[in-house]
Amino acid sequence: MARRLDRQLRALAMHRAAPADAPIMAAIHATCFSPPWNEAVMSQLLASPGVLCLIGATAEIVASPAGLLIARRAADEAELLTLAVAPPCRHAGLGRALLERAIADLRASGARQLFLEVDEGNAAAIALYRAFGARPVGKRPGYYESGANAVIFSLALSDSAFDYGQIAEKPHDDQR
Ligand SMILES: CC(C)(COP(=O)(O)OP(=O)(O)OC[C@H]1O[C@@H](n2cnc3c(N)ncnc32)[C@H](O)[C@@H]1OP(=O)(O)O)[C@@H](O)C(=O)NCCC(=O)NCCS
Repeated sequence: MARRLDRQLRALAMHRAAPADAPIMAAIHATCFSPPWNEAVMSQLLASPGVLCLIGATAEIVASPAGLLIARRAADEAELLTLAVAPPCRHAGLGRALLERAIADLRASGARQLFLEVDEGNAAAIALYRAFGARPVGKRPGYYESGANAVIFSLALSDSAFDYGQIAEKPHDDQR
């Protein structure tokens, strides 16, 4: 088990994106979202204060980065702006590794709470967020162009973070 985990960790590579990475960031985003964020958007994000951009690759596809995570921190709160793993590279632990690294970096920079917004039909992302302990705290009806609802998840990054999830998931007295 420990050896398997070690192999997996060595097979994934991650780094903070630099300005020159804007084209590859746009390319990764385009493999997952329509309309994609173009290079200009990526450059703007890379230049924005408080924005964390991570790029990840799997050993099988080292030549072309496969995963992207962008988060923004303001004071002690952070928001996941996007997380994308190119289809051929999924199910290799890259999404989990990117989120794990982002959580560590955001925590180190002073964030105590991370908000994550996701299409309520996106089972993969929801399972991933829940695996980290994120809890649903709100809904935006018809938020996406497709008409799908967005669910907002909250993840406490520090012991003293306010637990929004406890309120959202606690049944009301009249629902029992
Ligand atoms: C969501 C996404 C980032 C997951 O990336 P990934 O590299 O394939 O995920 P991992 O291999 O690290 O899997 C981690 C966990 O996520 C969950 N998961 C991933 N894919 C899943 C799927 N198809 N169905 C259900 N759960 C899934 C599982 O809990 C998994 O843990 P497990 O392997 O122990 O079961 C990827 O599917 C993706 O880019 N999707 C399109 C873009 C998107 O929806 N982004 C998130 C919203 S912004």
